[in-house]
Amino acid sequence: MENFVYCTPTKLIFGKDAVLNLPNVLKPLGKRVLLTYGGGSIKKIGLYDKVKELLADFEVYELSGIEPNPKYTTSVLGGVRLCKEHNIDVVLAVGGGSVLDCSKAICVGALYDGEPWDLITCKVKAKAALPLVDILTLAATGSEYDSGCVISRTETNDKVGYLDDLLFPNTSILDPRYTFSVSKKQTAAGAADAINHIMEQYFCEKHSLMADGMCESVIKSLIESAKIALKEPENYEARGEFMVCCSLACNKILSIGNSPSGWPCHGIEHALSAYYDITHGEGLAIITPRWMKHILNENTMERFVSFGTHIFGIDSSLPEKDIAEKTIESVYALFESFSMPMQLKDVGIDESRLEEMAHHIAVSEGLENAWVPLTESDILEILKASL
Ligand code: NZQ
Ligand code: ZN
Repeated sequence: MENFVYCTPTKLIFGKDAVLNLPNVLKPLGKRVLLTYGGGSIKKIGLYDKVKELLADFEVYELSGIEPNPKYTTSVLGGVRLCKEHNIDVVLAVGGGSVLDCSKAICVGALYDGEPWDLITCKVKAKAALPLVDILTLAATGSEYDSGCVISRTETNDKVGYLDDLLFPNTSILDPRYTFSVSKKQTAAGAADAINHIMEQYFCEKHSLMADGMCESVIKSLIESAKIALKEPENYEARGEFMVCCSLACNKILSIGNSPSGWPCHGIEHALSAYYDITHGEGLAIITPRWMKHILNENTMERFVSFGTHIFGIDSSLPEKDIAEKTIESVYALFESFSMPMQLKDVGIDESRLEEMAHHIAVSEGLENAWVPLTESDILEILKASL
């Protein structure tokens, strides 16, 4: 086992009417609240009105219109300005991963006098952050239970993952009923994202039986609950199990003691979203099987065999190479069965900028240090195989 420090200071409040805890959660954090949300889904499901009712005793300011793949110049800087102007005490994010991520960046930017991009790109270490409380409406990223955020800067085609313990939410409120309205497309994308989060931790050099078992169990649960949620969007048990799995998938608990993998699929996908503004989980569904194929060799075989036999029940008496190939086919078939786009051209990406993207990824993502190192030409091959 590798050395580790593990601490998740976020309180999760899960279940029907969990939102009623909101006033008590916010009270010790302050009076002036910045309510942040996206393009209006929270109004359609009645959550906006409920939150406003619960915040009757608070001074509330609002930042709306946070984009999917949240943008630095509009949303992050807009939120930082509001926090400084109104001396905000606490940020309340209501929405999916994009709203939460943007709000995390706002929380650190609000207490910093310089350019917040320097914090996001880790040029400067943040010293403090406003507290963040969130009400999650889309299960996928795990942002509600992790210390990361991902911010896009369109002008420079950057999509940067920023990690800092200051970004852990104070409290995350999870009522599965607020995810009933999530579309099939976003449900499938959320499943592919969370499954890939676990794969990024499972495919690594050093791992334990314990970590493998936790990863496998949560992936199996994600697959089964996603299948049900896609057919029956208002199935509370399925949406609930799916939601908790997503929270656990990205917060490092499942791979405790494992060696780092470098998260290669995410490194590649972030460039696709940065250049083409595509849905993160769809990009991952396309990249993951191609990356698997690219890194399969004698040294990596054991991970494929373990994954394929334990997750998909592939016959363990087959030759290892056959099991590994069937494992890749099974991952592809799984995402395809969720009706996901499986080629870059399905999400509007052609060959014209592949080389530019491969170079951008090689320079900015450090994938030469991944479990299986990826050079610029490896990345280009994976992108070409995904067309
Ligand atoms: O903007 P609104 O109107 O709210 O609509 C959103 C958006 O259009 C909609 N939606 C959200 N809740 C809904 C709903 N529609 C109906 N009913 C509801 N209850 O769904 C659309 C997508 O929302 P978004 O927040 O963008 O999706 P997701 O949660 O998948 O977040 C994706 C972002 O998170 C980043 C991704 O890169 C991407 O930018 N990630 C964040 C991570 C983290 N913080 O740890 C890790 C991930 O790997 C990922 O990179
Ligand atoms: Zn992800």
